[in-house]
Amino acid sequence: MVFLTRRERFNAAHRLYNKEWSDEKNKEVFGKCSNANYHGHNFELFVTVKGLPDPDTGFIVNAHSLSVLLQSEIIDKLDHSNLNLDVDFLKDVLPSSENIVIAIWGVLEKLITDCELHCIKLVETENIFVEYYGPQ
Ligand code: NI
Repeated sequence: MVFLTRRERFNAAHRLYNKEWSDEKNKEVFGKCSNANYHGHNFELFVTVKGLPDPDTGFIVNAHSLSVLLQSEIIDKLDHSNLNLDVDFLKDVLPSSENIVIAIWGVLEKLITDCELHCIKLVETENIFVEYYGPQ
């Protein structure tokens, strides 16, 4: 099995806030991340697919096609957005990095057909990233 990873970047704002809770409880749990006026990150997204090289091309996936797909279905929607308000596939989702990778998996697993989706990794800051390997 060969693994191929494509990196994309996007900038976006979000706020960690559970609308079922009081402002005090949100502040207690999420701290500054619950600030009413949002805050931003320069996110890095790593999408890893796996498969065996096609005998004719030597590729497990056409990397250009994968890039075009990620751009149109994911990055164009996330970049310079408010993740709480603007993104169709994050509607009604509390946009933590954990929930974002699960939502991205849900979009991509239907669209990636030549090979298999292996991992979605999202780097939120230089010290924190999350990885999702699909529903277990
Ligand atoms: Ni944040």
